[in-house]
Amino acid sequence: MQTFLLPSRVIIGVLLLGVMVFAQVYFPVLPVPKDNPQTPEKIQLGRKLFYDTRLSADDSLSCSSCHQQQFAFSNAGNAVSTGIRGQKGSRNAPSLGNVAWRKSYFWEGGSPSLELQAMGPLTAHDEMAIEPRVLVAKLQAIPEYQKAFSRVFPEGITMLNVTKAIASFERTLVTNRSAYDKYRAGDEKAMSVAAVRGMELFFGESGDCFHCHNGFNFTTETLHNTGLKKTNPDLGLARITNRPEDAGKFKTPTLRNVALTAPYMHDGSIATLEKALEHYNKGGEDNPNVDMLMRPLGLSKTEINDLIEFLKALTDVEFTRDPRFSAPK
Ligand code: HEC
Ligand code: HEC
Repeated sequence: MQTFLLPSRVIIGVLLLGVMVFAQVYFPVLPVPKDNPQTPEKIQLGRKLFYDTRLSADDSLSCSSCHQQQFAFSNAGNAVSTGIRGQKGSRNAPSLGNVAWRKSYFWEGGSPSLELQAMGPLTAHDEMAIEPRVLVAKLQAIPEYQKAFSRVFPEGITMLNVTKAIASFERTLVTNRSAYDKYRAGDEKAMSVAAVRGMELFFGESGDCFHCHNGFNFTTETLHNTGLKKTNPDLGLARITNRPEDAGKFKTPTLRNVALTAPYMHDGSIATLEKALEHYNKGGEDNPNVDMLMRPLGLSKTEINDLIEFLKALTDVEFTRDPRFSAPK
């Protein structure tokens, strides 16, 4: 009998290709808009702007005031954020981990790009509240910024270039070094036995989480009403579409670093992961728009604990300490 042997080079080639395809699917290539390529100098400029309180009307707030590195760039501890002059907002500040890959921005998905998104907090009266003309004049009076902008952009300081630089910095905020990532890369000891059980519940029909929290970033980027309340005081998607059936629909957030970002949900109304799991276990409140996938799960206490252990395995401590993302010296 004759065996057919492929040359080893072909076998190795096919294997390598398989690994590459797998890695690609697991963590897709960083999406970068054609008109705003990533360059080291632009990223550093964006980082400086992200941490500069002079970008707010009264020099009191920077982006980092509400998106803090130690909390995976969320505003942990605050149900909603506080803008300039102590004004309370109505929504919870999401983590900016892996924010480059989001399909849309804001809780109802109202902004299509990071560049456009940045205009929101800069100009919102209850956030940084600065007029574009005022901001550009302010920056033009700072020689350091004059120099840095002219090195990166031929036109120098403009509002568009401010948002482009900030967006470039945000695209570098990649979180991919959690215990779960290490486990997936083959380190079986990276996750506890309970966390592995939790992972199986998460990706199985009994937990049902994966229908919405799927993929490398634990979100399908789709919008849902999870029955948070009986009514929908925040209209969510209906703010954009004006359709009653969209009231209370919000973008599915990433669950990476979720153990660091409490309280939870668009309004910060759920204080802990335990309470979040209780909410899912009962299938949410009876809301007219509640998603079909929301149903009582009947999970035991142990199963709930296992799911929480799994969510904790999504914490990437290195991300929260990475000097590339911290305030520039
Ligand atoms: C006063 C607190 C505050 C400040 C300052 C602030 N943000 Fe936010 N950020 C929020 C809140 C709250 C949300 C959610 C708002 C919403 O969805 O309506 C948010 C949402 C975002 C999002 C959307 C994330 C997603 O997944 O949809 C990005 C990106 C972002 N902020 C970046 C920035 C940048 C860049 C700056 C500085 C120019 C900044 N933020 C300043 C509180 C703040
Ligand atoms: C029907 C889709 C859907 C399913 C199923 C689902 N989620 Fe969610 N999840 C969402 C949406 C949408 C939000 C944001 C809701 C809001 O803010 O009103 C969310 C928010 C969360 C949050 C809060 C995150 C944050 O940053 O505020 C946690 C934790 C969470 N989900 C965990 C789970 C777990 C665990 C499961 C499985 C038991 C699950 N989810 C199942 C869609 C879903």
